[in-house]
Amino acid sequence: MYRLVRGLLFLLPAETAHRLTFAALRVALAPAPLRALVRRLAAPRDPALRVDALGLSFPTPVGLAAGFDKDAAGFRQLGALGFGFVEIGTVTPRPQPGNPKPRLFRLKKDRALVNRLGFNNRGMEAAAKRLAKTHAGVVVGANVGRNKTTPEDGAIDDYVAAATALAPAADYLVVNVSSPNTPGLRDLQAVERLRPLLEAVRGAVGAKPLLLKIAPDLADEDVDAVADLALDLRLDGIIATNTTISRENLASAPARIEAIGPGGVSGNPLAERSLHILRRLRARVGDRLVLVAAGGIEDATGAWARIEAGATLVQLYTGFVYGGPAAPARIARGLAAEARNRGYARVQDAVGRSTTLQ
Ligand code: FNR
Repeated sequence: MYRLVRGLLFLLPAETAHRLTFAALRVALAPAPLRALVRRLAAPRDPALRVDALGLSFPTPVGLAAGFDKDAAGFRQLGALGFGFVEIGTVTPRPQPGNPKPRLFRLKKDRALVNRLGFNNRGMEAAAKRLAKTHAGVVVGANVGRNKTTPEDGAIDDYVAAATALAPAADYLVVNVSSPNTPGLRDLQAVERLRPLLEAVRGAVGAKPLLLKIAPDLADEDVDAVADLALDLRLDGIIATNTTISRENLASAPARIEAIGPGGVSGNPLAERSLHILRRLRARVGDRLVLVAAGGIEDATGAWARIEAGATLVQLYTGFVYGGPAAPARIARGLAAEARNRGYARVQDAVGRSTTLQ
């Protein structure tokens, strides 16, 4: 069924299709009784899926990655589809329009997307208001970043402002220093710049679970350095990874890729690199941090591989676009089946139990 709908949606420009489908979902599931009905029909309720992490209880380990619900406009509807958690944002202190359109593209042959949206969002005040609605049945994280026009020496203030505004209503917070579409942002991943930033945000948000989201383009030694810093500063977790600036491993025509221009690639071409980084992190930090896997997860097999490699939670974005509204529930049910087949009572019992090394 979704194949048919997808065929039609894919005739539209990618951002238009996103806007339409998300608006339809928000409107259709705005009434609480309808949301409850869809949740009963669609969302998995298997106790084997429940994850206890970050001091929170996740109904399933399958979440929606940041960037889909940038303004916290539909997290309850997305939760009803069966996402165990939804990460809203990236939210910046002030509203900003993002980059000129077109800025979102499909690479169908690769089951990938390229985006250079540039943190289009309505700002922290609008997001904080929406985030204050009930989170019943779904964990909601808030991902924060800095405004494009903020000078480099104001970056920390931006992160602190957005994190402070969103912390009261968010279940967890994420510092995003890994988007390729805000000039200079990823330079904040250098440890000497990251330390004061994370210290300031940690100080501002108190005991609220705080995670860092990293790029897949970091060198292995930099991944280690960031992991050590996260431990040192008592962060709660790391999300690996954001989109890549690499254009390797693509099946789409080089002329098409060239014509699209700059931006971050997400989806299947990212899977191998994201898994590598996850393994590297796990080897470094063991179970002292909660690791959240993102990047090219499209099915239960891919999600299970991340769990075994050390991810307590997994997120998808591109796999949701290509796989449709049933994807989160399908993947979660597949994970529960996978756990049972291998003799685990809960999916969480399999975290980091892979026998394969690097
Ligand atoms: C993203 N992603 C993203 N990440 C983030 O931290 N803040 C953001 O605002 C966005 N925005 C965004 C927009 C679009 C259109 C895409 C495709 C992605 C990155 C996303 O959360 C995720 O880390 C990567 O896309 C990798 O996962 P998938 O898409 O391969 O499942």
